Amino acid sequence: MSQPSIIVTGASRGLGRAIALELARMGAAVTLNARSQDALARVREEIEAMGGRAELLAGDVSQPDVAERLIAAAVLAFGRLDAVINNAAILDPLARIADSDPFEWQRNLQINVVGPYLVTQAALPHLRRAPQGRVINVSSGAAVRATAGWSAYCSSKAALNMFTAVLAEEEPEVMALTVRPGMVDTAMQAELRAQGDRAMKPEVYRRFIDHHQRGELLPPELPGHALAALALKAPLSWSGRFISWNDPKVEALLRK
Ligand SMILES: NC(=O)c1ccc[n+]([C@@H]2O[C@H](COP(=O)([O-])OP(=O)(O)OC[C@H]3O[C@@H](n4cnc5c(N)ncnc54)[C@H](OP(=O)(O)O)[C@@H]3O)[C@@H](O)[C@H]2O)c1
Repeated sequence: MSQPSIIVTGASRGLGRAIALELARMGAAVTLNARSQDALARVREEIEAMGGRAELLAGDVSQPDVAERLIAAAVLAFGRLDAVINNAAILDPLARIADSDPFEWQRNLQINVVGPYLVTQAALPHLRRAPQGRVINVSSGAAVRATAGWSAYCSSKAALNMFTAVLAEEEPEVMALTVRPGMVDTAMQAELRAQGDRAMKPEVYRRFIDHHQRGELLPPELPGHALAALALKAPLSWSGRFISWNDPKVEALLRK
């Protein structure tokens, strides 16, 4: 049988890049998406240098035509589609509700929620045909924990969790999961340290600075490995759940 084919959005850097490299190491063909064409091309080169296969489609995942072309590119390149990992997201606007820009607020939900919806909708016909189709949505602790200054981001991740739960209700043969990746050493955390003091409570902002200074942020490869394994192996019985990257059940799956 041909190798599994998996789409990763937000694959130009950070967690998405790590997931894509791990998937290639695990034997999957990967289709990469983000807005930055050059950065995606470098990730594709990294995958090909280790003997893997990768396709890319650059574009804003919140645009319906991009989502459709992304699915078509994966199916054309690899003849099948087994999973999508909706990982692309933004943190902005980092602002109190009273001060936030309505356009930026809307833009956040457009990328973090409408993007995964569009990619999932376009992928479903192929995922239903796969031996076991999977949708892995990268969520956050922010889905269930309110943080001042993060109203758009927290709302978007809470919506993504519910979207996943509804997907699981509607598509009993497709495994749909939201995963919390922990605090990961990426550009998103750097942005938070650079700009979070404007809107977050000082004691909460300080915790993020301290985590970084103590070297406690996770390297993207750790949750990246777990997310890649979930896209290839998560059992259908987990569908609809919100799970942490290091949940004991995930660790047991990694050992299999
Ligand atoms: N880092 C953490 O501590 C942490 C914690 C909890 C959850 N998460 C979640 O983990 C995921 C990955 O975050 P990260 O930390 O790796 O962030 P990151 O370094 O900022 O990477 C975000 C990725 O998304 C892409 N992206 C942004 N907007 C896009 C759009 N409109 N269309 C297509 N791609 C887009 C970016 O590439 P381009 O700019 O080239 O488009 C980039 O590849 C996100 O869902 C985030 O919410 C992260």
